[in-house]
Parts: sequence; C-alpha cells; structure tokens
Amino acid sequence: MKIRSAKVIVTCPGRNLVTLKIETDEGVYGIGDATLNGREKSVVSYLEDHVIPTLIGKDPQRIEDIWQYLYRGAYWRRGPVGMTAIAAVDVALWDIKAKLAGMPLYQLLGGKSREKVMVYGHATGLDIDSCLEEVRKHVELGYKAVRVQCGIPGIPTTYGVSKEAGKPYEPADSALPSENVWSTEKYLNHVPELFAAVRKEFGEDLHILHDVHHRLTPIQAARLGKEVEKFHLFWLEDCTPVENQSSYELIRKHTTTPLAIGEIFNSLSDCQELIQNQLIDYIRATITHAGGITNVRRIADFASIFHVKTGFHGATDLSPICMGAALHFDTWVPNFGIQEHMPHTKETDLVFPHAYEFKDGFFTPGDVPGHGVDIDEELAAKYPYKPAYLPVNRLEDGTLWNW
Ligand code: CO
Repeated sequence: MKIRSAKVIVTCPGRNLVTLKIETDEGVYGIGDATLNGREKSVVSYLEDHVIPTLIGKDPQRIEDIWQYLYRGAYWRRGPVGMTAIAAVDVALWDIKAKLAGMPLYQLLGGKSREKVMVYGHATGLDIDSCLEEVRKHVELGYKAVRVQCGIPGIPTTYGVSKEAGKPYEPADSALPSENVWSTEKYLNHVPELFAAVRKEFGEDLHILHDVHHRLTPIQAARLGKEVEKFHLFWLEDCTPVENQSSYELIRKHTTTPLAIGEIFNSLSDCQELIQNQLIDYIRATITHAGGITNVRRIADFASIFHVKTGFHGATDLSPICMGAALHFDTWVPNFGIQEHMPHTKETDLVFPHAYEFKDGFFTPGDVPGHGVDIDEELAAKYPYKPAYLPVNRLEDGTLWNW
C-alpha cells in the first residue's frame, strides 16, 4: 500500500481551519487537523512545500517511521509550525490504519479505559451575575465541570469574556489584531469573588476551572492559588508563562491549588521539568500542536509516572478532527483527567460530519472505523480563508503584555 496523494484544505466556517487529507492507492483516506490559530498559512506552506512531496509513495502504515522521518529528517526540531504539520500527517495516518483495521481508533491504542469522557465547558460573563447565568446553562445541559471567566471592573475588556453572552470571544474579526487592556492588580482583587459566588450558587460538587492566560508573575500566581484554595478549583490554568519551567517551583511552594498548563507546548521537552518535578497536575498539550497521537502518547505515558493527568486543550481554534482524535485518545489514556470542549459553529459541524456525541457532560467518540470525523470538501469550499488574529494585550500604561 502506498500514499498516492495528499492535499491541504483551508476553510473558514466561523474560524479558519486547516485540514490535511492523505489518500492511498487502495482508496482508503485519512484526515488530520493542521490548524495553528492566527498563523494558519505557515502550516499550509510547510505541508505543501516541504512535507507532501516526501510522503508520496510511502507506506501509510509505517506511522512511527514517517513521524521520525519528518521530525529527525527535517534537522529543525520542535516548534509550533513543524509540530502542527507533523501532527496532521500523524492523525491522518492513524485514521487510515484504524479504517484498514475496521476499528475505532481507541481500539488500536489499547481499547477503552473508561465508558465516557468528562469535558468542561466555558461560562463567561461581563460580570459575576452574567457568568453565573452561563454556568447555570451548562449545569442544565449536564456539564459536571465548567471553566468560569468574568469581566473585571475598571478594565474595558477581559480575556475569555465575549461582548455578548454566548458569542465567541476570539479571534478578532479583522485583518489585524485588536488591542486589549489589562490590569493584574484589578484582576487579582476581583477574581476570588467569582469563585466564591459559583460555590455559593452551585455547591461543592461542580468542578470549577479557571484560565489565567499567562497574565501573572510566579509570585502573583502563588498569591492567587493560595487565596482561592478554599474554593478547591479543579485547576488553575496557565497562571504564568513557562519558558522557564522552574518558575513553577515558586508557585508550587505556596499553594495546593491544582495547576494546569501546556496548550502551547509542542514537545515532551517543553514540559519535562514541570512533570518530573511534579510542579503541575494536568498537562494540556494537544494532539494538533504537539506532534500528533504518536507524540502526545509519549508525553502522557511520561506524565503518568509522576501522577500528572491529561487535560487537553479543546477550544474552537482546533477543528472537529482534533476533537475526534482527542476523544479516542481520552477513551484510552490511563491517566485521563478531563477534556476541554467548546461547541463549534453549526456550519463547522456540517463541514466536518463526526461520530462523537455529547450526553450529560460526557462525550463518547463513536464506534465507526478511524477517528470518526470526515470533511465535506464541497461545503468547505464555500467558506474561504479570512485573515483573523487573536488580540494583543497591553497594561494600562501601554506596555505590551501576554495575551
Ligand atoms: Co487556555
């Protein structure tokens, strides 16, 4: 069996999504997600100009060898563009292998470790009361875990908060990034009240998550983690940037609030120190940005030795293909923690027909051979690429800060 052809499909049924489709000489095909939010075209070029020509004629069943060929063979290692391209190939090949086997992908990984996959949804509001309303909607839908974000008095815009309830909060619908304003002081003084209100309203059983989006220094993160311990968050996410992994030692010394990070990681070395020193509790590396199922499996296995669980990124900057592949992975991985879920637009769900299903706060990946997600190419062509970027963030005095 040989890879006969491969192509990249770019579509924007709400957000830009990049898909790699690999076809074999026996008619079986597989698809992988290659979406890198705000930098989509760099991965398109990486695949079309540098990867696809080397795939033609290769045996699609040699997933590991092709992974090594693209990783070691490129000389350049790691990095979001290259690792997203490798992930797209890897997921498409796992899709092909599972279709050839006539099995859902989770069977090839080792079978089910659980019956269903717990997900968390996003509740955001301009203030605490409107956030509580959004939490209620999630609870009514059956969610057992909700990420809560609310506006901060005195700051015109806040990360994770949309201008209108239920509307996406990113990316800016313009050809250039918009600019937000941030005050760490105002945020730190306000956000504990949000968790207090959620606990008061919904009791102790609901899992509460919160994303700080890299806005704090380690000592500020330590203060926040310590102050909100009594609300026992499921996790505090991305509380500080982590180019220097040992900065988490300082946070860890001060708080028992569980910590999660990794949605922008691409490799095991990006999180090795955090994991082996037990500085985090959940690793958020995604299949799409961390080199595919082949590589995320290495990260998850390593993490399991150190009691670190998975909590994959799953926002709508990833296509339904990533969600499908992640749900198969989550169904198998022994050290599963939770899976993020943000509903795609109706148009996106129609472009990517899928076998996965939501019920009462949990997903199941479906039982069709492969990862269970397909692409309707004709429909995809109706939504051409539109430049869109995440906002950039500045402190009140104009200093550029972390988004
Ligand atoms: Co996040």
